[in-house]
Amino acid sequence: MTDQNGTIESHPLQHGEEVEVYPPSDEFRAQANVRDSSVYWQAAQDPEAYWAERARQLKWSKPFTEILDWSNPPFAKWFADGELNVAANCLDRHVAAGLGDRVAIHFEGEPGDTRTLSYAELTHEVKRAANMLTSLGVSAGDRVAIYMPMIPEAVIAMLAVARLGAAHSVVFGGFSAESLRARIDDAQAELVITADGGYRKGRVSALKPTVDDALALDTGTPLSVERVLVVQRGGNEVVMQEGRDLWWHEEITAFDGQHEAKGFPSENPLFILYTSGTTGKPKGILHTSGGYLTQVSATHSDVFDLKPETDVYWCTADIGWITGHSYVVYGPLANGATQVIYEGTPETPDWGRWWSIIQKYGVSIFYTAPTAIRACMKVGRQVPEQYDLSSIRVLGSVGEPINPEAWRWYHEVIGGGKAPIVDTWWQTETGAIMIAPLPGLTGLKPGSAQVPQPGITATIVDEQGERVGHGQGGLLVVQRPWPSMVRTVWGDDQRFIDTYWAKFGDQYFAGDGARFDDDGDIWLLGRVDDVLNVSGHRLSTAEIESALVEHHAVAESAVVGAHDDTTGQAVVAFVILKSQQTLLAPEQAEVELKQHVAAHIGAIARPRRVLVVSELPKTRSGKIMRRLLKDVAEGKEVGDTTTLADTKVMSTIQDQLRAG
Ligand code: WT7
Repeated sequence: MTDQNGTIESHPLQHGEEVEVYPPSDEFRAQANVRDSSVYWQAAQDPEAYWAERARQLKWSKPFTEILDWSNPPFAKWFADGELNVAANCLDRHVAAGLGDRVAIHFEGEPGDTRTLSYAELTHEVKRAANMLTSLGVSAGDRVAIYMPMIPEAVIAMLAVARLGAAHSVVFGGFSAESLRARIDDAQAELVITADGGYRKGRVSALKPTVDDALALDTGTPLSVERVLVVQRGGNEVVMQEGRDLWWHEEITAFDGQHEAKGFPSENPLFILYTSGTTGKPKGILHTSGGYLTQVSATHSDVFDLKPETDVYWCTADIGWITGHSYVVYGPLANGATQVIYEGTPETPDWGRWWSIIQKYGVSIFYTAPTAIRACMKVGRQVPEQYDLSSIRVLGSVGEPINPEAWRWYHEVIGGGKAPIVDTWWQTETGAIMIAPLPGLTGLKPGSAQVPQPGITATIVDEQGERVGHGQGGLLVVQRPWPSMVRTVWGDDQRFIDTYWAKFGDQYFAGDGARFDDDGDIWLLGRVDDVLNVSGHRLSTAEIESALVEHHAVAESAVVGAHDDTTGQAVVAFVILKSQQTLLAPEQAEVELKQHVAAHIGAIARPRRVLVVSELPKTRSGKIMRRLLKDVAEGKEVGDTTTLADTKVMSTIQDQLRAG
């Protein structure tokens, strides 16, 4: 892990320590999509030629002649003179190839309702939706906000927006009205697509009322939204505002499935996805079309060894996150995969739900997050053991480092001791998988994401930007532009430069610490900035802190990520209450402030603990030393306090917490 200055301390897996390696079976290797390791050096010889070749597997309405334009770094253009329609690549192309009857989506609602959509049917629905959106004034260059449960219409909406050359901004359904509105304002979305509600944990979780609240907020920014399109799903009571709100199922009846997809330039914006950074304001990560689709489809095929004719693929991510964009919507559909989409939570009605879905649909490739695996481990192997999981042949992990113990459990209990696990490192900003084993080639090491993908030059450097040696730690960087890279922070080029490129100039700084083992495999060590990772979701300490100080009783706050056995990290907040305040008794503070954060940002940001203290540890220059608070929150011995302005403050805090 790292200290405040971003330098690496020791890692439990020290030089010389043995880790077990799981080589691919001969059987797996013989059938693998990528089975010749020369791909790595061939791609390294000429990465642009490699990516151009992968890009040519897509359907371009106007073929590109340029590959990479890096004349104005860090603003990359890939395949810039080419034109394509992203949605047609995910749909019409497969139908035209005679695959219209192949199942695209096996949808399973949380209450148990199901719906199957073939590629022909999905194409038809997307064309109708595109016609409907056109009638509502959506056209190329516009932004559409999507705030939906995990239902087929969420995918249809995304693809319909893409088909028109407009950009979507999907906002995770767990975000608050305030977070939703901030994203709408920033992107200047003119349409919101939502649902009345969706099923979660056996209940309907309302979405439309949150949209109403978001649009009613006085944010100082004039409201850009003109229309709200509402899918009927939860059956919950909603208020439809005359002239603004429309029911999807009523509108859609007027439109047929005739729609010609136009080609758009490769660099046409495809979507904006907001993610937390080191400041209070989320960043709108902008992804464009041709390069993005190239890398998501290539990695989806290579890393998961996808056989579209026979595999049944399931990624449990919500479309509100980048994993849902790249490995539920665009990667799998561009590859003509058959996939499962499940609306609800893994414990509804009981912890057997995921495994029953795998058994029911014969899922062969399963992609989820370590936090979910650990939650299932806690419940016990006797639950998955009641189901036939023999269809599983590849397992994936994403969102945080997978601890070796969870890796082994996943491998044995879910993968029957034979399915390779691909631990995939990437980010909202990278758009697609960057570091991961290739299951037919790589000897797997539990806990390590291992190797950059062919055509990707990720490495580990020291503070000066020099590559570190084997057995050493440092900061993870990407050295050359890659096709699915973030193009900018929406509306803020300077922030894009400052956040990712200022540290090393010409190398992309990912914000993660990492180390090479003795074989040169990469082990991720977590963030080196003030970004938390709770259940694989990114949260910003600064954003939670600013939500806390917006509470009338809070004078100051500091937020840290404390280790948590299930969620990886948990939010722990330290607050100083205003001395004059009479509105909040310290005993109520914890309950009230937890609720306050959830209401401001969303339930995912709700602190596990809120601790009231009288002082916070600061350096002489006034910077809060979160590292020390993290030690306290984790019940560890507090580290070096010599740089504190007041060296006694930590013992005061500890005494207070003990007394409280
Ligand atoms: C951060 C990105 C990639 C989609 C989900 C999260 C951490 C992600 C791994 C992994 C170790 C990982 C990193 C990264 N992370 N995958 N396999 N091993 N760490 O996307 O919200 O953009 O977060 O998640 O810290 O920087 P995100």
